[in-house]
Amino acid sequence: MAIRFPDGFLWGGAVAANQYEGGYLDDGKLPSIQDVLPVGGLSAPTDEPTEDNLKLIGIDFYHRYAEDIALFAEMGFKVFRFSIAWSRIFPLGDEETPNEEGLAFYDRVLDELEKHGIEPLITISHYETPLHLAKTYDGWTDRRMIGFFERYARVLFERYGHRVKYWLTFNEINSITHAPLMSGGIWTPKDQLSKNDLYQAIHHELVASASATKIAHEINPDIKVGCMIIAMPVYPLSPDPADVWAARLTEQENYAFGDIHCRGEYPGYYLRALRDAGVEVQITDEDRETLKHTVDFVSFSYYMSICNTADPAKQIKGEGNILGGVSNPTLEASEWGWQIDPLGLRIVLNDYWERWGKPLFIVENGLGAKDQLVVLDGELTVEDDYRINYLRDHLKAVGEAVDDGVELWGYTWWGPIDVVSASTAQMSKRYGFIYVDRNDDGTGTLARYKKKSFGAYREIIESNGASLA
Ligand code: BG6
Repeated sequence: MAIRFPDGFLWGGAVAANQYEGGYLDDGKLPSIQDVLPVGGLSAPTDEPTEDNLKLIGIDFYHRYAEDIALFAEMGFKVFRFSIAWSRIFPLGDEETPNEEGLAFYDRVLDELEKHGIEPLITISHYETPLHLAKTYDGWTDRRMIGFFERYARVLFERYGHRVKYWLTFNEINSITHAPLMSGGIWTPKDQLSKNDLYQAIHHELVASASATKIAHEINPDIKVGCMIIAMPVYPLSPDPADVWAARLTEQENYAFGDIHCRGEYPGYYLRALRDAGVEVQITDEDRETLKHTVDFVSFSYYMSICNTADPAKQIKGEGNILGGVSNPTLEASEWGWQIDPLGLRIVLNDYWERWGKPLFIVENGLGAKDQLVVLDGELTVEDDYRINYLRDHLKAVGEAVDDGVELWGYTWWGPIDVVSASTAQMSKRYGFIYVDRNDDGTGTLARYKKKSFGAYREIIESNGASLA
């Protein structure tokens, strides 16, 4: 069957500042929480940045952006999703005046994208809260964070809002329950964090997200603001209704974030879950009004599906993305234990479209794998057929969903160039179509090499998906 993607479909790739920019103290920037997470986003932080942290240099995009964007253009990218490092713009996070040198860097990046006709898609906050805000305010547990974020977002919309149409507020906002520091800048260790503080922090982020959406629309009504959630369909481990319900409850933990962003209020099942957990969230009348500013589209990352069961004896957790779950006995997994499920992507696309009726954008999908550099026709490359297969299988599922009637704006592959992993802080967990010569011990020339998948993705984009058939 022919696979057809809509005209003007936005094909591209996605990255985050803390995982690829480097230059962690350049031109006035101060550390973010990532600069004190040398072994990954789910671990305990160090007090100060340490040299073994690969993110301090990343892949040095800060100095090589022109070369990298030219490679993206060669693949035919229509869109490039990147985040702005909050601590480049407001190095501490709570100061009144932004850092002009930080702003100027993103002007240069946007100039370069414009030169190649690539549409930017900006994530305002991607796991990189300024360290000062984490240490001084305990991150999003503090209501004052809403004001700091509003000031930061306003500066970005005023500076770039005339040339950047697509914006995302918080990366994977639903990850905060599992990774309170990385996702919510919360310095209190997870095992000491009270449920009240956690859910209050979630509330503050949700209000800040809605408020930023309002500010964007006031500055330029043409701007499209999306929320960004981890999509992870939850299957019942068996047809036992108790398992179906257990799966449903886990799914609701993620739905809640989309529901609030799309419907502008807390859903009943979420209020009940808070009541059952004995949590009291302080919600003001002003908060309720703010939440009514709903998003223009829903974006999400998709890497895997999970299962759930009501039977404690069968609660065998697999490895996984930040939100883990019970392993699915029918699926294979990546080298890092993430279960591979292309059909799950079609399921998610249909589900979200039916549920919210808002345009969708897949802003992350990809395979982390160990790559081997080889010489082929005198050139260094990687024969990454496993990545090409993953890409093609997932895109075929996307094509089916488009045929199902889902309105989908675009697809950005996670890490089109190798970057430092968010969960493990390794370089060896590679997603790229472009290989970066950097190793887990920090050695390497930082040279870039095209993998076999580079040409495969270029062909898919060039044919607007038709070559997937
Ligand atoms: C998502 C994050 O969870 O998954 C990215 O938004 C991250 O920042 C990506 O890099 C892949 O995860 P990892 O841990 O393999 O880098």
